[in-house]
Amino acid sequence: MKNNLRIISSNDGSHTIYREDIDEHYHSIHGSIQESIHVFIEAGLKTFIEHNKKKEFNILEIGFGTGLNALLTNQEIIQLKKVVNYHTLEPLPIDYSLIKNINFKKINSNVFSQIHNLKWDYNHTINNYFNFLKKKIRLQDYNSKIKYDIIYYDAFGPNSQNDMWTIDVFEKLYSLLNSRGFLVTYCAKGQVRRDLKSVGFKMERLPGPIGKREMLRANKI
Ligand SMILES: C[S@@+](CC[C@H](N)C(=O)[O-])C[C@H]1O[C@@H](n2cnc3c(N)ncnc32)[C@H](O)[C@@H]1O
Repeated sequence: MKNNLRIISSNDGSHTIYREDIDEHYHSIHGSIQESIHVFIEAGLKTFIEHNKKKEFNILEIGFGTGLNALLTNQEIIQLKKVVNYHTLEPLPIDYSLIKNINFKKINSNVFSQIHNLKWDYNHTINNYFNFLKKKIRLQDYNSKIKYDIIYYDAFGPNSQNDMWTIDVFEKLYSLLNSRGFLVTYCAKGQVRRDLKSVGFKMERLPGPIGKREMLRANKI
């Protein structure tokens, strides 16, 4: 996918992509890196590590897109010396001819091009800490024997992609998690929070990244 997409700069100077047909950005225009760090690294990865002694754990990302969350996770777990099996789903990969022009400042550019050029649907070892699998599939069609400790829920918002925010999808996400695992998302819509609660999640409303009042963490207790 390329024709619909163009690179733009977000307010923290880092790039993101704008998708024209649905009028959506891949990240917050207030800053893509600050949003990913706030929602997925701080409220997701680091919170899990603080409360859990596991040396190795599994992360599922919904929406690989530009690969920013994977890159930041790789960077962080090398520092923290934890082993992560990172699985990410993406039905509409972005052409490398566009991706190669993205600049995520201060992030390892070798790993960036590596994860984009690796084969889909194979397990890859990136380094001693980061095992990586990207699957070209929709969440709705994905089945897994593996359960996850953290889900990075980074789908486009309910206004443009309503089918990613249904009770059926939330039941699936619940079943994909280990107990004591959780999902984090930038979305804080009241209906989403109530629907996640209705499938069994214990919900937390957390301060959002710059430009958003709140975000959500959904816990499987
Ligand atoms: C808000 S973007 C976030 C992308 C990515 N996390 C990033 O940092 O660039 C949402 C992503 O979800 C993908 N997506 C769309 N439909 C999907 C589906 N049914 N299942 C999984 N991912 C989907 C889109 O193609 C897009 O890459």
